[in-house]
Parts: sequence; structure tokens; C-alpha cells
Amino acid sequence: MSDLKSQINPGKVPKHIAIIMDGNGRWAKQKGMPRVLGHRSGVKSVREVTEAAAQIGVKYLTLYAFSTENWNRPPAEVTALMSLLVETIKGEIRDLNKNGVRLMAIGDIEALPPSTLKTLREGIEKTKDNDRVTLVLALNYSAKWEILCATRRLAEQVKMGALQPFEISEAIFEHELSTHGIPDPELLIRTSGEARLSNFLLWQVAYTELYFTPVFWPDFDRKELFKAILSYQNRERRFGMISEQLP
Ligand code: FPP
Repeated sequence: MSDLKSQINPGKVPKHIAIIMDGNGRWAKQKGMPRVLGHRSGVKSVREVTEAAAQIGVKYLTLYAFSTENWNRPPAEVTALMSLLVETIKGEIRDLNKNGVRLMAIGDIEALPPSTLKTLREGIEKTKDNDRVTLVLALNYSAKWEILCATRRLAEQVKMGALQPFEISEAIFEHELSTHGIPDPELLIRTSGEARLSNFLLWQVAYTELYFTPVFWPDFDRKELFKAILSYQNRERRFGMISEQLP
């Protein structure tokens, strides 16, 4: 394991890694356990991956913790996930502060249950001065929703005469996204063998390297994170150019 870590080029560590944490339910089923225990084990992976990411110099980690589509799950599972979030944030604040982790959220968080929203806001407020790594939780998040919100805000500005349609550039558009101020992820990881983006950060991943692994999220540990980073470091990112043009 330390061997994997030593193979990582410290000068090419992604600044921002986004993760679709998938497979908690299947992990639990395989073990004959209720799905919610899969989510509980998933929290352990969140902790381990956050710590490992901070140690190697990742500055932003965005985790897809609850999509807008997840409301369609059985109500008992939704309730369990919301309680797990509250319990986790409350239980982790001290360690987040000890490790210099700033908590942030993206998504339509106003629609979360009041107790979840309250705990989330407290977590964000109590960690706001940390600057080692920013942990962005995507909660009630949908990329299409985010893009529509940005579009509506720009349309309002045009209607008021504050902006001309031809002035809408990528930079102006990005300014209206919930990830404003956060660099686009260089690496996106999805666990559990699925190879989809599932409405996650669609604008932001335009040039992101995608890494799919069959490992279920509760089994995704620091070693798996290092493997993903090594795979990323071995790729050539050309951004539309040819190899010879690269530095
Ligand atoms: C996907 O597995 C996982 C989720 C929808 C929830 C992820 C939540 C956690 C890891 C716990 C809370 C997180 C934080 C940040 C405190 P799945 O249920 O879709 O698994 P399946 O595809 O095997 O059914």
C-alpha cells in the first residue's frame, strides 16, 4: 500500500476529485445485511478517502451523497440516509477541524428535511476557516437542475438589462453554477462497475478523466484511491491538442 502511495507523482496530484459512491446496497446484499448497513459502511470509506486525499494534497473532494433522483427510493431508506448524514456530520466535526477539512454543499439543500439542513449548515459554519481540503457534499443535487438555475438567473439579468446575450461567456455561465470558485475536477471516480454520470457535474466534467472500478463503495479504501490517481497520472491529457504540442 505504501508502495502505491510512493508511486504517486506529488507534482501531478489532481486538485479536485469527484466521486460517485455507488454499490452500498449491493455490498450489503452480498453479505446478507440490510441496505442501510451498506450506507453505514460507506461512511467509513468517506472518512478514509477524505483523510488519504488530504494527505497527498488533493484540495477538493466532491462526493455524490444524495441525488435528486434518490428521493424515489423506499421512504425508510431515504429517512435512514438523512439520519446517517446528520449523525455523521455531528460526529465528525471535531475530526474535520483537526484535519483542516472545510465542509461545503452543492444541490437544492433547502428541500432537505429541516434537521438535516440545520446540521449541514452548522457543519459548514463550524469548518469554514479550514483550508487543507474542501469536502463538497452533493446533496439533493442534479446537474440539469444546476444548469437550469444558472440559465434562469442569467435570463433574469438579461431581462433587467444588466447583461447582453452576446456577453454570456463560459466564465459568466460558470459564475452562476453552485461550484463557482472551485476548479473543475481532473478526475471522476465511479465505484461498483457502473459506467454512467447519472446527472452529476455535467458541465464541470467536460474534460475530466473518468475512472470506473468494480469495487463497491464500502470497499473503496485509500489503496483504491491511490490506484485511481495512478491511473489518472498515467494518462495523457491533451485537451484537443496532439501529443507533440504538450509541454
Ligand atoms: C449509492 O449506493 C450510495 C448512495 C446513494 C448514498 C451514499 C451515502 C453514503 C456513503 C453515506 C452518507 C455520506 C456522507 C457523505 C456522510 P447504492 O445505494 O445506490 O448502492 P446499490 O447501487 O448497490 O443499490
